Amino acid sequence: MIEVKNINKRFHDRKTGDFYALNDISFTVSNGEIFGLLGPNGAGKTTMLRIMSTIMEQTDGTVLINGFDSKQKPEEVKRSIGFLSGNTKLYKKLTPVETMRFFGSFYGIEKKVINQRIEAIVDRLDMDDFKDRIIEKLSTGQVQKTSIARCMIHDPQIYILDEPTLGLDILTSRTIIGFIKGEKEKGKTIIFSTHYMEEADTLCDRIGLIHQGSLIQTGTIDELKEKTGKNNIRDIFLYYIDQEEWIDDYA
Ligand SMILES: Nc1ncnc2c1ncn2[C@@H]1O[C@H](COP(=O)(O)OP(=O)(O)O)[C@@H](O)[C@H]1O
Ligand SMILES: [Mg+2]
Repeated sequence: MIEVKNINKRFHDRKTGDFYALNDISFTVSNGEIFGLLGPNGAGKTTMLRIMSTIMEQTDGTVLINGFDSKQKPEEVKRSIGFLSGNTKLYKKLTPVETMRFFGSFYGIEKKVINQRIEAIVDRLDMDDFKDRIIEKLSTGQVQKTSIARCMIHDPQIYILDEPTLGLDILTSRTIIGFIKGEKEKGKTIIFSTHYMEEADTLCDRIGLIHQGSLIQTGTIDELKEKTGKNNIRDIFLYYIDQEEWIDDYA
């Protein structure tokens, strides 16, 4: 379970001074649920997911991951999550299998268990062709699969995935979407960000629409369709953004 309560994040910009990248964000993700955080570039998705992953600290508010407070129990939070970010660092001289072994031993997992997990992950992510090739010789999609493999090796209960399919070809995207669905079937909790509206439509139990640092709506896709009278996520999103602008203009 993920509980995000009243998160603000203030950054300092040298030219424009202080500004809030996140304004009073609150939402929850229940166990076994796929939650999509949707918003355009610069909306605040990465900042939110980094705070949830303990990579960055919030200015105000609380994040609870499996009941652990991200500020007070960062080690427990890290153990509970698999975090995938756009700049996940991999050692380019290692192969995918060596990468999984390295991170597996880092988490203190028994060798036999690591080997079983590697086999399952290679199969799940369709990595057989390149599992023993060094990372520096892999394609973008193969590197992304390796990053996902890395964040799965400790079999976390919760996945936090920042734009997992960004810039990937359709086959790699399909594998990654299959992985997300498969983890849900195992009872895992998943939050991921995307600016591909259609992707969220097929995957998410619930979505949150984020715009300029504010969470403007959350709900199931059916709920939001009903509320807005629109029949796809893209139109739902535009509906709410246009409304916001209307409020700004006439308030
Ligand atoms: N470390 C930082 N310092 C200052 N501003 C930042 C920093 N990280 C992100 N921002 C700003 O915060 C806003 C939200 O960024 P981000 O969370 O990366 O958005 P998204 O992932 O939705 O594209 C943007 O205006 C971005 O420029
Ligand atoms: Mg981002």
